[in-house]
Amino acid sequence: MLDAAGAAIKVAASKAALATLCACTMCALSLIPANLYAQAAAPAAGQAPAGPPMDIKGKTAAQFYKNIKVLNDIPAVEVHPAMEYIMVGLGVGCAYCHDVRHFDNDDKPQKRTARNMIQMTLALNSTVFDNQVRVTCFTCHRGLAIPAASPVLAPEKGPDGPVPAGTYAPSAIPNQVLTAAMAPVKVIPGATPPAATQPPAVEKPVVALPAADDLFSKYLQALGGNDALRKITTLVAKGTVEMALPPAPGTPPGPPTIGHPAVEVSRTAPDKALMTIQLPAKPNMDGYDGTTSWLQGQLSRENTGGERAVFQQWAEFVPGLGFRANHTRVHVDSIEKVGDHQAYRVSGFRIVGAGYDRVYFDTQSGLLGRTVTYMNSVLGSFPIQNDYDDYRPVNGIQVAFTDHYFNPEGNRLYKWEQVEANTPIDDKVYARPPQPPPPPPAPPAAK
Ligand code: HEC
Ligand code: HEC
Repeated sequence: MLDAAGAAIKVAASKAALATLCACTMCALSLIPANLYAQAAAPAAGQAPAGPPMDIKGKTAAQFYKNIKVLNDIPAVEVHPAMEYIMVGLGVGCAYCHDVRHFDNDDKPQKRTARNMIQMTLALNSTVFDNQVRVTCFTCHRGLAIPAASPVLAPEKGPDGPVPAGTYAPSAIPNQVLTAAMAPVKVIPGATPPAATQPPAVEKPVVALPAADDLFSKYLQALGGNDALRKITTLVAKGTVEMALPPAPGTPPGPPTIGHPAVEVSRTAPDKALMTIQLPAKPNMDGYDGTTSWLQGQLSRENTGGERAVFQQWAEFVPGLGFRANHTRVHVDSIEKVGDHQAYRVSGFRIVGAGYDRVYFDTQSGLLGRTVTYMNSVLGSFPIQNDYDDYRPVNGIQVAFTDHYFNPEGNRLYKWEQVEANTPIDDKVYARPPQPPPPPPAPPAAK
C-alpha cells in the first residue's frame, strides 16, 4: 500500500533536476486543449506490439502500466483521472512531463520531480492529515508549474519564475522527515471538509425553497412534457465552438489562438453521444456508447475512473433529467444568479462513484440553467460547469442552443445553428473506432 507514513519520506525535493528548465520545454502539444485528455495507454510489459490491448479492468496501476513507482496499488483506471488532475493543478499539458509517444519514459526531469511530489503529497495526507485528501498539487501550485514562494502583488496571477524562498540556508534547520508520530489522533472536530466532497456551507435563505421533486416535475413540463420527450429518440446539433485551437499543422509551436471550428453532436436516447470538432489538423471526437467513453483525435484513448463519470453525465440525452435517479440526498439549497436569471440550486451525491454535483433550474421558466460536476481522482478533483441558454423548440421539446462549458483545462462556448430530431443514427457511430497497433518500444534512454 501507499504506506508513506511508515517510510518516512524526505520532504526536500530534488533541486538539481529543476535548475535547467524553462518554459520552452513545453512543446506545442502541451498547449493543445483537445489533447489535454489525450494519450495512448502504454502497452503493458511483455505484450506483443500488435496484439489486442490488455484489459485495464480489475488491474492495479502497477499491473497495467510499465513504469509506476508510487501509485502502484491504485486501480489502473484511476491513473488517467490523476494525470488530468495534475495537469489542471499545475496548468501544464501531458508533454510537460511526458514523451507522449512513450508515457512510461522517465527522461524528463519534470516527471521525476512530479513523482517525488506525488509521494510527498501522499505522505503529507497519510501522516499529518489522517489519510484524507487535504493537501493536493493545487494547494501549493495553484495552476502554476512552479509555485510562488511568497505572496504576489495584485493583479498578477503569479511570478514568471521561481521566487526566492527566504534567507535561511537549508542547513540552518536540520533535515525534516515525516514520521507516523505526526499523525493526529483524529481530525479536529469542526474542521471544514474539502469543497469537492462536501456541500459548501450555504447561508439559510430567507425565502422558502421549493421541494426538489417539484423542480424536476416543472423542468419536465417546461421541456415539453413526458409525451413529447418520449417521441424524440435522436438529436443532431450542428454549430460552432469558440475554443483555444492548437497551432495549424506545420507551424512552429506557440500559444493557442481562439477559433470557432465547426462542431456536431449526435445523441441517441437514453445515453449515447458523439461529438466531432473539426480541428485544423484532425477532427477530434468524444464518444460514449452507453458503456465506454472514448476520445479519438491527434491521440486516442478510453476514459476511465472520474473522467468516464464526467462523460457519462455528458452523454445523458436531456441534461439534468436523470439527476434524481443518479444521486442521493438530492435537495434544494439556495437561489443563485445564473446569467441574468435567478435559479434554484439543487445538490446531490452521485450514487455510483464518489462525487458531489449540482443542477440549477430557472425560477421563472423552470428550465435547466447550469450543471456543475467534479472530475475526481486519487490526488484531488476539479469542477466542470455547463451553462445552458437560448432555449428554442425542436419537434415539441425545448433545446438549449448555447452551452457555455467551463473547465480549468480550457473553456468553450458551443452555439448550435441547427438541431434536428429523430434523424436515424446507426448505433455503430458511438462505438470506439478500431485502434492502430501500439507504437514500437521506446528507444533506450540517452543518459
Ligand atoms: C507534472 C508531471 C506530469 C504530468 C503533467 C502528467 N503526468 Fe503522467 N505521470 C507522471 C508521473 C510522475 C508518473 C509516474 C507515477 C508513478 O510512478 O507512480 C506518470 C505516469 C503516467 C502514465 C503511466 C505510464 C507507464 O506505462 O508507466 C501514463 C499513461 C500517464 N502518466 C499519462 C499522462 C497523461 C495522459 C497526461 C496528460 C493528461 C499526463 N500523464 C500528465 C507525471 C505527469
Ligand atoms: C507542499 C507544497 C507542494 C505540493 C503539495 C506539491 N508541490 Fe510541486 N512543487 C512545490 C514547490 C515549492 C516547487 C518548486 C521547487 C523548486 O523551485 O525547486 C514544486 C515543483 C514541482 C515541479 C517542477 C516544476 C518545474 O518545472 O520545475 C513539478 C513537476 C511538481 N512540483 C509537481 C507536483 C505535483 C504533480 C504535485 C501533486 C501530486 C505537487 N507538485 C504538489 C511544492 C509543492
